Amino acid sequence: MILLDRTHKDVKRDDAKPVSVPEPSAARLDQLIAELEARLADIDRQGPTTLASSLSAEDMVLTDVIARLGLSIDIFTLETGRLHPDTLTMIARTETRYGLKLRVFEPEAEAVADYIGAFGKNGFYESLEARQACCRVRKSQPLGRALAGYHAWITGQRRDQALTRERLEQREGDTAHGLIKFNPLADWQWDDVLAYADRFDVPLNPLHARGYVSIGCDPCTRAIRPGEHARDGRWWWETADTKECGLHTPISDNSPVSAV
Ligand code: ADX
Ligand code: SF4
Repeated sequence: MILLDRTHKDVKRDDAKPVSVPEPSAARLDQLIAELEARLADIDRQGPTTLASSLSAEDMVLTDVIARLGLSIDIFTLETGRLHPDTLTMIARTETRYGLKLRVFEPEAEAVADYIGAFGKNGFYESLEARQACCRVRKSQPLGRALAGYHAWITGQRRDQALTRERLEQREGDTAHGLIKFNPLADWQWDDVLAYADRFDVPLNPLHARGYVSIGCDPCTRAIRPGEHARDGRWWWETADTKECGLHTPISDNSPVSAV
């Protein structure tokens, strides 16, 4: 069921601080980092691999490890055409800081024009079908191009990010793309991510300091209030069980997406 309440986008946080979290112990963080480094080095040895980066904190942590260890894992981002300007600035910041080039994939202009003709530019607020259609055109289709030719891909997904990710595995078979998919931060908590970023001075999207935890496209992402779940800031007019965009749970070809 869709709960239409677009006004929440305008939530203003008066403390202007990131959501406060308890810090992990130094020993826990050491252990997590050692495991993560070993995992990524092992993944790198298995074949050509690419990291999907939304330029959010999780993906910046993974980028930092890849750069620090000098791994040959490529990094791409899906520039949907609806990202927040602060998110867009992260592309150049990442490239400058780490001396690497991100591969940037955009949706096909014709598919976007078809979507807008069928649903309207912001039609995603009106129905789940229209929202999934937009995600498919702006994210899922470019993802297919980004993954072509790779043996495996890596995501920054974590189990506690969403109801839909409770059973997330470290390693999955991605049958939709015919690749192996790794989620090396599956058992990390949000405070582990922030603690890593603090220890290694990782550049972070300024939106995180303004109450945004999970960051996607601008019109579909808002800051969360204290006590809200991170995912409450994404597609807030939908119920928790539908909040996936098709990158991680393929949207059926029978959805109206394919009609556009
Ligand atoms: S989403 O499916 O709801 O949009 P989310 O924002 O939680 O995903 O991010 C989970 C992981 O999906 C990220 O850590 C990243 O690996 C990948 N991802 C999400 N958005 C993008 C994007 N725009 N470009 C590249 N990868 C992305
Ligand atoms: Fe479209 Fe929103 Fe999905 Fe971005 S998150 S692709 S704007 S529906």
